[in-house]
Amino acid sequence: MSDIKKIKDEFLLKLKKNLDLNQINQIKTDLFGKTGLISSQFKQLGKLEEEERKKFASDLNSVKNELQNSITTKINYIETSEINQKLEKEKIDITLPERPFNKGKIHPVSQVIDEISSIFSEIGFSVEEGPDVENEYNNFTALNTPDNHPARDMHDTFYLDDKKELLLRTHTSPVQIRTMLKDKPPFKIIAPGRTYRSDSDQTHAPMFHQVEGLHIDKDINMGHLKGCLNYFIKEFFEVDKIKMRFRPSHFPFTEPSAEVDIGYEIKDGKIVIGQGDKWLEILGCGMVHPNVLKNLKIDTKKYQGYAFGIGIDRLAMLKYGINDLRAFFDCDYRWLNHFGFDPLDVPSNYRGLSR
Ligand code: PHE
Repeated sequence: MSDIKKIKDEFLLKLKKNLDLNQINQIKTDLFGKTGLISSQFKQLGKLEEEERKKFASDLNSVKNELQNSITTKINYIETSEINQKLEKEKIDITLPERPFNKGKIHPVSQVIDEISSIFSEIGFSVEEGPDVENEYNNFTALNTPDNHPARDMHDTFYLDDKKELLLRTHTSPVQIRTMLKDKPPFKIIAPGRTYRSDSDQTHAPMFHQVEGLHIDKDINMGHLKGCLNYFIKEFFEVDKIKMRFRPSHFPFTEPSAEVDIGYEIKDGKIVIGQGDKWLEILGCGMVHPNVLKNLKIDTKKYQGYAFGIGIDRLAMLKYGINDLRAFFDCDYRWLNHFGFDPLDVPSNYRGLSR
């Protein structure tokens, strides 16, 4: 008994000192390890007479418990003071000013492409894509615009090689060809994207945006074309009625061809779309020329349809009151902050197409 009391007193004293966790672990091993002081006392039990053994075992257990409790208390104390020290050292200085925070905006052209795509997808059009670098066959020849056709000069094409086989597409119409090469009719697609012509002033930029439309099926006629465009323009400008006129025109890949103007007026210095006695051209369209369908081995007795090409930048300028096209492509952050759209703001006519 005197032995274990000595051990107890000695170690309780040790545990009062300033210790770290390693030193505590050492104490644990010294006491309770395989050959530890307390463990070896337990081994002595077997040698004692029953009466003595009972008493010694009970004394031993209470010493063991006391020492273990004291160790646990010490460990808790050390851990808590370590956390407190850390908290003290790593205090966050909340008086520091925040870092500058730049919130991005959606470019008006991206916004309008989204709006257009969601309106057309509601009436059954799916969205197709084509590359900006095209071959001359898709951009011209397949679209019934052979070599030496004057329309080729009209487009002020950027060619990418001397043989004039590769070019930056001058319109989105080659996506009509890509779509019809890839699949079988019927087709009902739109194709928004970048287009290029060597041209630059307040209303023309060398890179601009169009959205192509193509609807080929049995018994499609000009009435469907008019209905579709009328619906689109009303939805896009969010008006109930729209003044719209089809002006005869010419495109090699449509017959008959038309350009579409919408009525507008200026009221209190602002443009009002849909009424008035002024006209604004916004798109080209027509019934797909049989030669185009024949180039793609589509039976023209069975299938016919319409196509249209809308200038996206023009629509964006009209809807959002932007008067210089070139500003779209200047990458001026202040301009974008003013005319751009909050990515979390859902416009009233937005129908949930993912960006
Ligand atoms: N591709 C023509 C253009 O860029 C527009 C258009 C497309 C016309 C489809 C008719 C049919 O001017």
